[in-house]
Amino acid sequence: MQKLAAGNWKMNGSVAALAEVRAIIAAHPSPACDMLLCPPATLVGPMAQTAKGSKLMVGGQDCHAKASGAHTGDISAAMLAEAGATHVILGHSERRTDHAETDAMVRAKAEAALAAGLVAVVCIGETEAERNAGQTLAVIGRQLDGSIPAGATADTLVVAYEPVWAIGTGRTPTLTEIGEVHGFLRNRLKGLIGAAAMSVRLLYGGSVKPSNADEIFAVPDVDGALVGGASLKAGDFGAIIAALSAA
Ligand code: PGA
Repeated sequence: MQKLAAGNWKMNGSVAALAEVRAIIAAHPSPACDMLLCPPATLVGPMAQTAKGSKLMVGGQDCHAKASGAHTGDISAAMLAEAGATHVILGHSERRTDHAETDAMVRAKAEAALAAGLVAVVCIGETEAERNAGQTLAVIGRQLDGSIPAGATADTLVVAYEPVWAIGTGRTPTLTEIGEVHGFLRNRLKGLIGAAAMSVRLLYGGSVKPSNADEIFAVPDVDGALVGGASLKAGDFGAIIAALSAA
């Protein structure tokens, strides 16, 4: 399995920030892992142009469940694909919170992504209150069951475990806790899609940075990372790519 270093720029970046992308490509012409950056929708096309001919893949951060229509402000999976995206992040906790996205909505979007030829990067994760109440596995199990698209394969689905309380906070679960969740997810996914689950990339996300990447990538069933803040700078994201390549 090829591991995956994925970056989520969220609502950050500009055309000027494509300099970071050029620097990442220059520093990692042929990494031993896959590399993906997901900028705001306006930058998908320009970033894909910048990345043309390189190993860097580009993705969106959300898409609509429908292929087209009267949905002002939304963007379809096919539009992302036409702009040069190969992946789309779906069900990020910020979308689940800010836009009240449910598991069913995330699944519908993920099915639209697959139909448009995109890889769906489906995000799940518990809140701090849920973890403190001992509900972590129940919550992420339910989210996984409800969010992954019908017909998902190892080539069309990536799952990102992102504890809500670890996103942008500098806090992370212990390595034991990460391993517990990823092992649980692998098994649960086996029940849902069969043997293909062994090759689905399970990413950890939430305050991944150069200083903790090595130890997180050594955890069993961690097949890469979804990186927010540290993906904005070529030096930081490059160090994470290097750590994953060496893992
Ligand atoms: P962070 O964000 O790396 O800034 O914590 C991760 C994410 O939300 O994907």
